[in-house]
Amino acid sequence: MSSGMHIHPIQQILTSRTDREHRLRQQGKVIWLTGLSGSGKSTIALQLEQQLWQAGFVARLIDGDNLRAGLNSDLGFSPTDRAENIRRAAEVACLFLHSGIITINSLISPTHELRAMAKAIVGPADFIEVFVDTPLHICEARDVKGLYKKARAGEIPAFTGISDPYEVPEAPDIRVQTENTSVDEGVQQLMDFLLPRIQPQV
Ligand code: ADX
Repeated sequence: MSSGMHIHPIQQILTSRTDREHRLRQQGKVIWLTGLSGSGKSTIALQLEQQLWQAGFVARLIDGDNLRAGLNSDLGFSPTDRAENIRRAAEVACLFLHSGIITINSLISPTHELRAMAKAIVGPADFIEVFVDTPLHICEARDVKGLYKKARAGEIPAFTGISDPYEVPEAPDIRVQTENTSVDEGVQQLMDFLLPRIQPQV
């Protein structure tokens, strides 16, 4: 369905983003975690959300698996559906962003094109791309959800990393390695990067 010609979005909103950020004492940002299934995105995202909260910030996790259980329950894993999944996740993040809230988007977002689309929707100034860099053999060895085993057995078609591509980000804003780095260290690395960027503007 296309938006057609008869849509007139309201441009004037009652409370501006700046007013909202001022009240929340923070700057909104979209922290976009990309990485393979089982790379540790959700674990890092949850812990990051918790640490931000403890530090006095309002952040909200937007997770691929959770979105797919609700808003995106009509979508599968074809290239078109993945694109729509990412588009909606970015649009939802935008709604939060313009309310002054920090979002942590945790989605495989497997291609350069998909991540570029998300960045364009959010706006490059507010988009922080985080590559959760866990080699495939580690994700597969962990296989927390048992999906790699099924994918290898041919039970899940087009599985990212096995029968569908994952394009490694070339220039992420930050790269978190999980092979030789603990979750705590990874989250700390993210906090150090984020803190100067989310502090309230004076
Ligand atoms: S994305 O590619 O569209 O960004 P998303 O992050 O929303 O993916 O969902 C990925 C999750 O869906 C995985 O962690 C896994 O639990 C599940 N999943 C089911 N089928 C697939 C598949 N074919 N490829 C990747 N993940 C899948």
